[in-house]
Amino acid sequence: MDVAAADLPERELYKLLVNTVLPRPIALVTSCDRQGRANAAPFSFFNVFSHAPPLVVLGIEGREGPVPDKDTLRNIRETGSFVVNLVDRALVPAMTVCAIDFPPEVDELAVAGLETLPSRAVAAPRLAASPVQLECRERVCLGLGTRHRTLVVGEIVHLWIRDGLVDERGHVDVDALDLVGRLHGADWYVTTRDRFREPRKTIADLEARAPAQPEKKP
Ligand SMILES: Cc1cc2nc3c(=O)[nH]c(=O)nc-3n(C[C@H](O)[C@H](O)[C@H](O)COP(=O)(O)O)c2cc1C
Repeated sequence: MDVAAADLPERELYKLLVNTVLPRPIALVTSCDRQGRANAAPFSFFNVFSHAPPLVVLGIEGREGPVPDKDTLRNIRETGSFVVNLVDRALVPAMTVCAIDFPPEVDELAVAGLETLPSRAVAAPRLAASPVQLECRERVCLGLGTRHRTLVVGEIVHLWIRDGLVDERGHVDVDALDLVGRLHGADWYVTTRDRFREPRKTIADLEARAPAQPEKKP
């Protein structure tokens, strides 16, 4: 296949991108409105973008209809904050409940059975069940594209990592962390249990491995 992005219908382009760029980490984003009502929704157009400054990015799609902004985006605009809760294997069923397109008045956290805790530095609450919670302040919301696609850039201002996951040397126990990523289609996910190691190389490593050059004849 060899095709210009502009020649593909929007839906086809979406399918090709989400079924090839994978796995994608999942942010179960908690936010709240001006009245402090909490909301949670998963986003896999998500990643950590840099550590200095510590930035995350979210790609939030607009909805069809008269109110295009998802609740998460509206709340981020209202309060300037959100929390990225990373998703482990145990959190997946509740995460999928949070993806249901509930009307704003429905407390999806209660429906999903998720307990929230107050954050240290931002208004948005965090999820007790998540192993890693990143409190973020909105740095910029960029409206891109024609269908209310918004790129949210948030700065991590406070980190919560479940006790026992980081040892005294600062090493993270990735087995115990047990995070998942989003795979192809609407429903496929992957754990981080199937891993392999490939050491990084130096120029000296490559030179040591180079095949011996044949000796030149005089
Ligand atoms: C695993 C997963 C990943 C998702 N990723 C995104 C995403 O990156 N961007 C997006 O706009 N919607 C994404 N969605 C859909 C939203 O979670 C869904 O529209 C949700 O209802 C939005 O909730 P809100 O209105 O409370 O913000 C995803 C859904 C699932 C299940």
